Amino acid sequence: MYWPKLSTQKIKHAIFEALSKNLNYRSENILGIPASFLDTDIFYEDAPFLKEAPFLSMLIANPNHIGCHTLDGEKEPIFKGTQEIEKDLIRICAEEIFGAEPNSCDGYVASGGTEANIEACWIYRNYFLKERHAKPHEIAIVYSEDTHYSFPKAANLLSLSSIIYKVDEDKREILISDLETKLVAQLALGVKYFIVNVNLSTTMFGSVDNIEKITNLLHLLKLDYKLHVDAAFGGFIYPFTNSDSKHNFKNPHVSSVTIDGHKMLQSPYGTGIFLIRKELMQFVCTEEASYVQGKDYTLCGSRSGANAACVWMILHMHGSVGWTVKMNQLLDRTQSVCSALNDMNVEYFHNPFVNIIAIKGQYISPALARKFMLVPDNHDDPRWYKIVMMPHVKQGILDNFLNQLSNELLYKRIES
Ligand SMILES: Cc1ncc(COP(=O)(O)O)c(C=O)c1O
Repeated sequence: MYWPKLSTQKIKHAIFEALSKNLNYRSENILGIPASFLDTDIFYEDAPFLKEAPFLSMLIANPNHIGCHTLDGEKEPIFKGTQEIEKDLIRICAEEIFGAEPNSCDGYVASGGTEANIEACWIYRNYFLKERHAKPHEIAIVYSEDTHYSFPKAANLLSLSSIIYKVDEDKREILISDLETKLVAQLALGVKYFIVNVNLSTTMFGSVDNIEKITNLLHLLKLDYKLHVDAAFGGFIYPFTNSDSKHNFKNPHVSSVTIDGHKMLQSPYGTGIFLIRKELMQFVCTEEASYVQGKDYTLCGSRSGANAACVWMILHMHGSVGWTVKMNQLLDRTQSVCSALNDMNVEYFHNPFVNIIAIKGQYISPALARKFMLVPDNHDDPRWYKIVMMPHVKQGILDNFLNQLSNELLYKRIES
């Protein structure tokens, strides 16, 4: 895994050069496009600091990255400079972070993880309809009960059924026997095609589904499936903290991956990243998008080129080495909280490569949860509360939390 760290000067130069290759709404004859630069009453085009601010300059220039730019063929020519930056970003994510062979993946910067997950399900549903002549009721989406709600949302939108299997209550490990029972039952009911999601960290627990167990079972049952990895949360941390990860394109069973820039990478909202092996995007080509040069393959349509380039900028501010160091520092801090919880005999779940700790609800008073804004698994009936070790979580706040938790537990023991 390697991409370079660039100086701010070099990043600035790359972005302004890309912008200069886009057509400029101010200086070119652009009559037919229903878009423009940002409103100048609010976004001053002549603010002197803009020369030093590549992201703000891109935001104001307002390139629209509609379509998918990793595909061969025609593209919207107006924004070709910043489209190239997006293509390089997709290459870095697919090849350097997720181990794909050169030029073997397509992808785009989506509105978020939800869109990227739905895009995957949409592609695979159409793939089974077209390539296998499947009937919609013969296709199901398979995921664990800890999976993000974007999968039931996808099933609802695409009129597919869901196969939801259980996880172990304490270890949050997938229960493969439950998955097997459910798959066998659905086969008997006539389901023949399976869109399988594997979590590279669940939202609530940071648990990582055992991909080998899942693919071994799918092969044992001789199922026709496509496999997606939802790495919306874990995608910018796990590959950097666990060099033995099997959740990537080196694994021939993985067809697509979702990653979110707007979580660990601290990029603006609107930076979900969708990656997929080549020859699959075409199953969602919207032929009716005839006014878009190169057609549209995405769920969202118009999307921000500035956001795509911003993720590229963040990655190059750190370089792969710097990012690995940053993620491992977060993990060290997470592990120090786990040690303190161990000393207090507090039960929790933590995957050693992910910066989430989910503490059992019985140890946390509602007041403490409110004070430190711990997020529950369920606001109506909380059984777990999570801490997510983000860069803004400083040691002082952690110490404060741990002290107050320790005091509460002491009082509880004295009272009982
Ligand atoms: C594992 C996982 N998948 C998907 C999503 C959805 O991401 P977004 O909110 O960017 O649509 C999230 C968000 O928390 C997530 O944690």
